[in-house]
Amino acid sequence: MFPQSDFPALSQKFKNKPPIYLDNACMSLKPQQVINKVIEYYSQYPSCHGRTTHKFGLRTTEEFDAARIKAKKFLNAKSPAEIIFTKNATEALNLVSQSITLEAEESVITSGLEHNSNLLPWQELAKRTKAYHLIWECDEKGNLDLNILSDLLKRHKVKLVSLFHKSNLTGAVLPVKEISELVHNAGAWLVVDAAQSALSVNIDVQEMNCDFLALSSHKMLGPTGVGLLYGKLNFLERLPSFLVGGETVIDTEYHSMTKANLPDRFEAGLQNYAGVIGMGAAIDYIEKYGREKINSYIKNISRKAFEKLSKIDKISLIGDPEGGILTFSIRGMSSQEAARFLDESENIMVRAGKMCVHSFFNHFKHPEMLRISLAPYNNEAEINIANSAIEKIVKFFV
Ligand SMILES: Cc1ncc(COP(=O)(O)O)c(C=O)c1O
Repeated sequence: MFPQSDFPALSQKFKNKPPIYLDNACMSLKPQQVINKVIEYYSQYPSCHGRTTHKFGLRTTEEFDAARIKAKKFLNAKSPAEIIFTKNATEALNLVSQSITLEAEESVITSGLEHNSNLLPWQELAKRTKAYHLIWECDEKGNLDLNILSDLLKRHKVKLVSLFHKSNLTGAVLPVKEISELVHNAGAWLVVDAAQSALSVNIDVQEMNCDFLALSSHKMLGPTGVGLLYGKLNFLERLPSFLVGGETVIDTEYHSMTKANLPDRFEAGLQNYAGVIGMGAAIDYIEKYGREKINSYIKNISRKAFEKLSKIDKISLIGDPEGGILTFSIRGMSSQEAARFLDESENIMVRAGKMCVHSFFNHFKHPEMLRISLAPYNNEAEINIANSAIEKIVKFFV
């Protein structure tokens, strides 16, 4: 769907063969349009936002503000003030967890399938406040049942629920709108970790009715080192600042300060201007195709990859066949070794390990697995090469 010629990393050759990049859940590749925008910042107006009145500063302010407006539209937020730029999704989730407090009898819920970045901030919050941390348990294939969440919400005094939108292990997408009704009816807040959905699933924060949402630019074609936190205006207004310093205030005395308005209040110090502006270019690139078309493309190639993979002997495969994330193990072979073989023989780059969802692997005593994760620049030919290489592994090594 996306032309591979837009992605310079794919034009390289290793042992005369192109790379087959199937590790998109970890990091997406960057189109030339995004790279150009980053270079443009550094080569034409490498300056600060907001505080300067010269030409370079004005251009930085204009481009930085434009990127925030693009992000606002991308998520259908009500106001650009609801978009706080951060280092990544992890920092965005920590911004919430570090800023709120829970009473001793209150609880926070996460699912049994969360990435460490959406587990540890809440573990720490529970420890700090002596609140409870409850797990919405999944089965051994990572399936979650809404009735179990509903029951937890009925039985406990829950203050906050934080869940993935799309799982980085199974590719499953949670019905956030339905969940937000359950969570809000119980008087709790909903935080959504949209790190995996940002590129391929439509995100409308007003329709989802989530209170906070976090994502990373680097998983949606943008530069590394940038992410964002969306927060409903009335929530952000009540949230204490996590980091303070330059940009977060409009005036200071030796022993006091006057805080800046949103969103500056949460963006301490000079920002990653090149990264944010590059993320704006990534949003433009995605919008040119539209997430509905991207989603159906991913579903289609995912289904084909899933079907092929599930036919190979000795493969145990989990996940949503249409999720674009295929996590599997090869019985009798170490996942790390298999990943090394795929890279060395055919330049096929996949992930091996516990995919930062150690808690799920440890709970069910699953062995480490391999993960193929698809992006809209992947195609069927690449899937066929990967499939044949995996068949070869099974035939010769197991
Ligand atoms: C579901 C999910 N949440 C959160 C993160 C953390 O993202 P980052 O490392 O960019 O903060 C990841 C990264 O892989 C992820 O897959």
